[in-house]
Amino acid sequence: MDIRFVTAGGGDVVAVMATEGGELLGAGKTLDTAASGRIAKAMKAGRFTGGAGQVVDVLAPEGVDYARVLVIGLGKPEAADGLAVERWAGHAVKRVLTSGAEKLVLMPDALPGVSKAEAGSHAAMGARLAAYRFDTYRTKLKPEQSPTLTAVEISMDGTAAAKARAEVDAAVVEGVFFARDLVSEPPNVLYPQSFAERLRDLETIGVEVEVLEPPALEKLGMGALLGVAQGSAHPARLVAMRWNGAASKKAKPVALVGKGVTFDSGGISIKPGAGMDEMKGDMGGAAAVAGAMKAVALRKAKANVVGIVALVENMPGAKAQRPGDIVHTMSGQTIEVLNTDAEGRLILADAVWYVQDKYEPSAIIDLATLTGAVIVALGHENAGLFANDEDLANALIAAGQTEGEPVWRLPLSAAYDKLIDSPNADMKNIAGKPVAGSIVGAQFVKRFIKDGTPWAHLDIAGTAWKPGPYEDPISPAWATGYGVRLLNRVIASRFEE
Ligand code: BES
Ligand code: MN
Ligand code: ZN
Repeated sequence: MDIRFVTAGGGDVVAVMATEGGELLGAGKTLDTAASGRIAKAMKAGRFTGGAGQVVDVLAPEGVDYARVLVIGLGKPEAADGLAVERWAGHAVKRVLTSGAEKLVLMPDALPGVSKAEAGSHAAMGARLAAYRFDTYRTKLKPEQSPTLTAVEISMDGTAAAKARAEVDAAVVEGVFFARDLVSEPPNVLYPQSFAERLRDLETIGVEVEVLEPPALEKLGMGALLGVAQGSAHPARLVAMRWNGAASKKAKPVALVGKGVTFDSGGISIKPGAGMDEMKGDMGGAAAVAGAMKAVALRKAKANVVGIVALVENMPGAKAQRPGDIVHTMSGQTIEVLNTDAEGRLILADAVWYVQDKYEPSAIIDLATLTGAVIVALGHENAGLFANDEDLANALIAAGQTEGEPVWRLPLSAAYDKLIDSPNADMKNIAGKPVAGSIVGAQFVKRFIKDGTPWAHLDIAGTAWKPGPYEDPISPAWATGYGVRLLNRVIASRFEE
């Protein structure tokens, strides 16, 4: 889909803004005057109150060139932010994507907290994000199911600033789409080796990509990562992606680490059958890291960033690890595996150690669909945040707010850490009792973070994908791409020159 900024023009459909109380904003008012008040009349007849996402669909009003006018609510004007504009544009695109219309014109207005230029760029961002589809395997789409929209024009005066912002945002959208695609792919297509191959493609945009295979992983001593992979016919991969955008190549990078379990059956501690298909998305952390690398490379971020993804399939094959096995990690610490379904922390243990050992990063942010417990605690609205560093935690909280990918901080402490002490090894991979599951998972990863390294862990089990009723116009698919915008923003605000 083509996005253009124009100062005047026409199309099949036009969308204008209205706020709570049913007030049309500037562009809508002008249109309503041309239509001799017919748009306002339709709003009244439709009991339109201007609530966020409310739509009045006016067909063929006299006096205007458009066949269809969409009045879309933003909610309270003082509360409307850039994300509200994105959702406004997203609603418009969702309405017309398969409607037969080819060209949509968006007419954003400035709001109390959003400048005209910001409104324009957010409208472009929302339109792009809302047009996402994962149709790769749908061979029999009916005409009415197929997108017809080919162009969106953002009509406003003074397009230059909005256009410049939108160009940077387009890079971020590419990253979000990359992550959504990876999470959506079925597990017979996306497994460690094929995932690694897709990451190789990032070389074309200037990312250095290194793929480590089992012999190298064995040599490094990654017994925890290899233990998870050993029950699968698909061997493990660890992929390191580097973007060196800082003035000095030697400046310490920020490290992003992602859990990439391409399918989590639970292993010998097998999961129940219902809903097990969703475990194809258990690589959402790795997808977020891959998407963030794509975004920073495309927008040529002035920062050194290293992205590490640990890729395995957790299966109950004849060679699978058993509950009771004890594995040696790269760090030298041993782990008693009491539940093979607590596999994410095992692969992260070796991945975060590797990144510290090899790159001495200035900070580490890991992302993982780690625990069902985080969904119990926070639902699908917030990711769980754990951190040993206040500044890093606060930067993530702020970035989550602006990007619509919120995080909620949960505690760490020595008392929780004790729960994973084992009499048979240095630690066990689950607590003795089912308490504070997300915190215990975070404490486990923390045992592999060296003292003095700022670290944050994001448990994204509830946000990497979402069940149906949580429809959001700027996140139209099951896979959200959660984490890409958040990481990109944190890199821009805290790690960029
Ligand atoms: N991948 C799952 C966590 C998960 C659950 C992600 C639901 C998304 C939706 C993880 O590997 C897992 O199985 N965790 C266990 C840990 C337990 C055995 C300590 C869990 O949450 O039940
Ligand atoms: Mn599991
Ligand atoms: Zn898992």
